[in-house]
Amino acid sequence: MPLDFTGNVTLALSVTSLFLLILGLPLVAGISNKKNLTRHGYLTIIALTLQTILVFVIMVPSLIVNMSHILDLSMLSALNTWIHIGLGVFALGSGFAYVILWLWFSRSKMRCFTVKKYMLPTFIIWIIAIVTGALIHILQFF
Ligand code: HEM
Repeated sequence: MPLDFTGNVTLALSVTSLFLLILGLPLVAGISNKKNLTRHGYLTIIALTLQTILVFVIMVPSLIVNMSHILDLSMLSALNTWIHIGLGVFALGSGFAYVILWLWFSRSKMRCFTVKKYMLPTFIIWIIAIVTGALIHILQFF
């Protein structure tokens, strides 16, 4: 059975938002390079905006419409779905917190530096959210 078009687009755009985050990782010339850090900040904002639109336009409505199916899923599928939702909420919320810290104060003060150690764990959680989301889609849980 072909996978549904909206889900395919959602998955492709979610992977795109992950690539934007990767592109922004200031690995190339080191963290002390100011240009890399600014690029990391702006690419994170674009990735967050794209993913937030997908969550509110596609995923939250699907969650509401499919709630009765979700409550009826087998244990493993249900676990995957709730892990996806939990980690997804966490990844988006943390991303917003880092960006707000950067933009709220003078950008040159780089207040986001204070939460730098949480960024790699958040990035890994974001990847797990994409993988569990891809499983929901590819295995057609609902
Ligand atoms: C970083 C955050 C997130 C990422 C990267 C992500 C990624 C994905 C991906 C790739 C899919 C599969 C595409 C599809 O079938 O539509 C998906 C599906 C889904 N996601 Fe997320 N997601 C995130 C956050 C959330 C949040 C916060 C919720 C809570 C409402 C959520 C609920 C769902 C649901 C219900 C589906 C199934 C959609 C369907 O097949 O009808 N996701 N997600």
